[in-house]
Amino acid sequence: MKKIVVLIAFILITQISFGQLRVEFEPNYDESKVPEFEVPDPLRMFNGRKIRNQRRWEKKGRPELLEFFTRNVYGRVPGELGISTWEVVEQSDNALGGKAKRKQVDLVFKKNGRSLHFNILIYLPKNVDNAPVFLGYNFYGNHTITNDVNVIISDAWARNNPSFGIINNQLTEQSRGVRVNRWAVNEIIDAGFGLATIYYGEVDPDKDDFRDGIHPFFYVDAQQRPAADEWGSVAGWAWGLSRAMDYFEEDAEVNENKVVVFGHSRLGKTSLWAGVTDERFAAVISNNSGCGGAALSKRQFGETVARINNSFPHWFCKNFRNYNKNEDALPADQHELLALIAPRPVYVASAEEDQWADPRGEFLSAFYATPVYDLYGEKGIPSKEMPAVNQPIQNTVAYHIRTGGHDVTGFDWEQYIKWATEQLMNE
Ligand code: GCU
Repeated sequence: MKKIVVLIAFILITQISFGQLRVEFEPNYDESKVPEFEVPDPLRMFNGRKIRNQRRWEKKGRPELLEFFTRNVYGRVPGELGISTWEVVEQSDNALGGKAKRKQVDLVFKKNGRSLHFNILIYLPKNVDNAPVFLGYNFYGNHTITNDVNVIISDAWARNNPSFGIINNQLTEQSRGVRVNRWAVNEIIDAGFGLATIYYGEVDPDKDDFRDGIHPFFYVDAQQRPAADEWGSVAGWAWGLSRAMDYFEEDAEVNENKVVVFGHSRLGKTSLWAGVTDERFAAVISNNSGCGGAALSKRQFGETVARINNSFPHWFCKNFRNYNKNEDALPADQHELLALIAPRPVYVASAEEDQWADPRGEFLSAFYATPVYDLYGEKGIPSKEMPAVNQPIQNTVAYHIRTGGHDVTGFDWEQYIKWATEQLMNE
């Protein structure tokens, strides 16, 4: 009898705790279960003071928010490190069937006996002297974005993906061109833009290991990993985009005043942070960036702060964990990240089936960033009503939700090219 009671008690206890575990980790996809919360006003300081003009925003509001995101979400870059040397390792005036030039430029960084390099693949339209460019990271190497046999295969660490022929963490010939669907190279060139891309793993391998990539360059003494307010991988990748910008300033064939920084998913979180921290980027595109990107954290819809910090402990700074299951305590939300890009153009894009990234939360961010764009007389998102699927709103702040899933499609690029042309080519 006693044994049976103990057994029943055991079963009940384990059931309850497993149940709780399930509840804790089950993402919410039900709009009616989104908690009530107040959207912080980007034009109000943390002490309640209202910001009424551009000057106050630039002097007080923007720095306060930038500091918040730096110390509590993405982490600060602990020091400075410029390009030590760079070299055009390969180039051609006859790429993409003759309409483009191709360059592969290796940037080298040296400090404290360490050395790191990354390669920028650049296609430029032949008929434009000083081309505006889209700059964005790729997930599996430069050679995956095109079938061009001249693109060099990176030897940096890569996540295994047998369907792309990636085993033993090495990229191979087998994955050449496997991501052509995500990069509208021809359309970009035909529109008079260049395209520059970098394999993100060359700047920091995407794993919870801070002994490789860019982070150790700044360690002091026996430091093993960044301090609680120091950079995670997203900020490390954003740092790399800024170094690419340093190079563009040296390259007469690239118009460094018209660089549109682009990224998908984790790399969309990265393009946003790069756009915020480096005002040299003329425009910013976040494709399906979701949690820690364009989506409002306080909605807790799809991926949450706790989820992302548990699954990817290396992406954000350690301090971000203070908001695990504690979104209410966030004094700022991701719409204010978008506001930090103002008055420069920003495009937020969602996909209907990508509920994990919370399309509605991404849209609302763009909407709630609008008051800061208003200060500059720039047009944001005029209404809280989400647009219909495949019906983009393209103002200085732009938004679309398209049919389909978590991906970058021809439809997305068609919009980005059209919008970037309007935003940057009208002078
Ligand atoms: C995971 C992660 C997302 C991220 C995505 C990606 O799904 O949870 O936050 O955006 O990977 O980078 O593809």
